[in-house]
Amino acid sequence: MALGLLITISMFAAGSAIADEADFSNFREEDIGLVSGIQPKPFTAEMPVAQVAQQVAPFSPQCSMEVPDSILGTPEFFEIRMKRGKSQILPGVDTEIIGFDGTFPGPTIKARANIPTIVRFWNDLDVVTIVHNHGGHQPAPSDGAASVIEGRLIRPGSFRDFCYPNLGDFDPATFQQDVAEFPSTQWYHDHAHVPEVDKGITGHNVYMGLAGFYLVKDALEQNLVDSNVLPKDEYDIPVVIQDKLFDTNGRLIFDEADNQFNGLLGDVFAVNGKAQPVFHVERRKYRFRFLNGSTARFIQLALSHGKFLQIGTDTWLLPHPVEPTASDNDGTRPNEIRLAPANRADVIIDFSTAPREVFLNNVLTHTTGRRPENKIVLPGVGLIKFIVADGPPVENDVTVSTATPLRPHNAISADLIKTVREFVFKRNKGHWTVNGQFFDHGRIDADPIAGEPEQWNLINGGGGWAHPIHIHDDAHQIVSMKGRNLDPQDRFKVDTVRLESGNEAVIRIAFRNFLGPFVMHCHNLEHEDMAMMIRFDIVEKSLGGEADASEVQFGAPGEKRTDLPPLLPITTAGPLGPGSGLGESDADPTPGGQVITGEEATQETIQGLAP
Ligand code: C2O
Ligand code: CU
Repeated sequence: MALGLLITISMFAAGSAIADEADFSNFREEDIGLVSGIQPKPFTAEMPVAQVAQQVAPFSPQCSMEVPDSILGTPEFFEIRMKRGKSQILPGVDTEIIGFDGTFPGPTIKARANIPTIVRFWNDLDVVTIVHNHGGHQPAPSDGAASVIEGRLIRPGSFRDFCYPNLGDFDPATFQQDVAEFPSTQWYHDHAHVPEVDKGITGHNVYMGLAGFYLVKDALEQNLVDSNVLPKDEYDIPVVIQDKLFDTNGRLIFDEADNQFNGLLGDVFAVNGKAQPVFHVERRKYRFRFLNGSTARFIQLALSHGKFLQIGTDTWLLPHPVEPTASDNDGTRPNEIRLAPANRADVIIDFSTAPREVFLNNVLTHTTGRRPENKIVLPGVGLIKFIVADGPPVENDVTVSTATPLRPHNAISADLIKTVREFVFKRNKGHWTVNGQFFDHGRIDADPIAGEPEQWNLINGGGGWAHPIHIHDDAHQIVSMKGRNLDPQDRFKVDTVRLESGNEAVIRIAFRNFLGPFVMHCHNLEHEDMAMMIRFDIVEKSLGGEADASEVQFGAPGEKRTDLPPLLPITTAGPLGPGSGLGESDADPTPGGQVITGEEATQETIQGLAP
């Protein structure tokens, strides 16, 4: 085999090593799915912080804010090109990526309340793309949702403009905004679904690097910064964590050769685009906005010393900071944070009295795209080694504590709910369905009325799969969760709810503005791509039918598509080999739920996955 790619398969009896020179010295089969052909030496490179996107001269935008100009400030214009680039994810190895402005992560867009942002995204690639501003409350044509709706893809060589008003939810009559709904931590990423093959390529495009942060501040949040409660920009660090798989030449591997691909898992953690970096910090409090930007991998964050103080979940600040916990079906662990793909944790870490070295670790094993094993390995895999400055703590550090009021929260009460819908997420015939159906851009699966809060029952249909479910356009509030505890940080607003095996979430959501098509989907990007996604259209009251609370609504079970066509040709290294799931049944007998503490498991020796 020319590549000499070291690949082996842990989960599938049929799998076996297919490399010329298999080296298992650093490898325990039960802990690792696929092994990269180059293993980085951890903690060599400094973690970069993505550059901030710079404004360009105004152009005449081909998009609309869908609100009167009079309520908005002077727009800020940006131009970002999706293109190929080189990145040293592995120290000393150039890897080709595709990225916004050719970088991974892409430039951070910083926006302010009521000052609209207009971004012209160019596609200089040979694959189609579309950009979704995840967590954003924006007009449907600028949402980048199910990109096939009204032909909104960005074809190679062309561009599309996106209008982001940077408003919280507002009353459509008065434009009075609801401060409780104003966002903080969004991220923008590709969301392409290709009509020619009737299939998404979002997984490929995000994995190859098309992801960046979009941070928004309103007066409330800016005031917390200005009054020295929350850290200033210099100490407010967005951090995207993605798992990657490399061949022996340092090329990223992404291969969907068989269409039963459960979700790509890599064994190298790229943190702001560097494998297991170090980050030098002062003796003070920092704000980190951790984003799990992986395709399929769940991570569970833990600190070697000290505690997390969580101030925000997904897009929104909490009403007050909480000490986070991490719950799965086997229990609840203190001072850890579990992040499914797309989840964010906005946290304060206090290094003022920390030892010289502090590790941010991932303690969760995850070896098959179907779900994490719930096997906790301590101390875990080092994601970042913080190197803390010598000397005394800084003076006049920020004052944030569990007593600090942050963003108000208005719970949607049960008596406001007029419509209840039910959605079952389930693997079916080797792909992924919602209520037994694959995504169809031409089919409207729900038609919520603007201004009328709804309850959605989100049900994991079983088979041992985990599905992080993301709803576009607005926050949802989890009111109950079957099968596991609800962590304190998840009891307010989220945009992506984890449905672990057998979990059933009852959520409430109020769509208030921006009519038209949006989507809900699994954020395991392989599941989204094939094709666990629905289109819902927010409609005006006069257009909606009389909703009935007792009625569970969804389009009648339609025909099941069993013959998804192959992916468009996309250039990647490979091959991945057997074991991506071909021939698996929809059910899964593998148990989880162990905690392992290994003496040999130090952060220095761990590379990639579990020790
Ligand atoms: Cu982050 Cu519809 O996606
Ligand atoms: Cu899923």
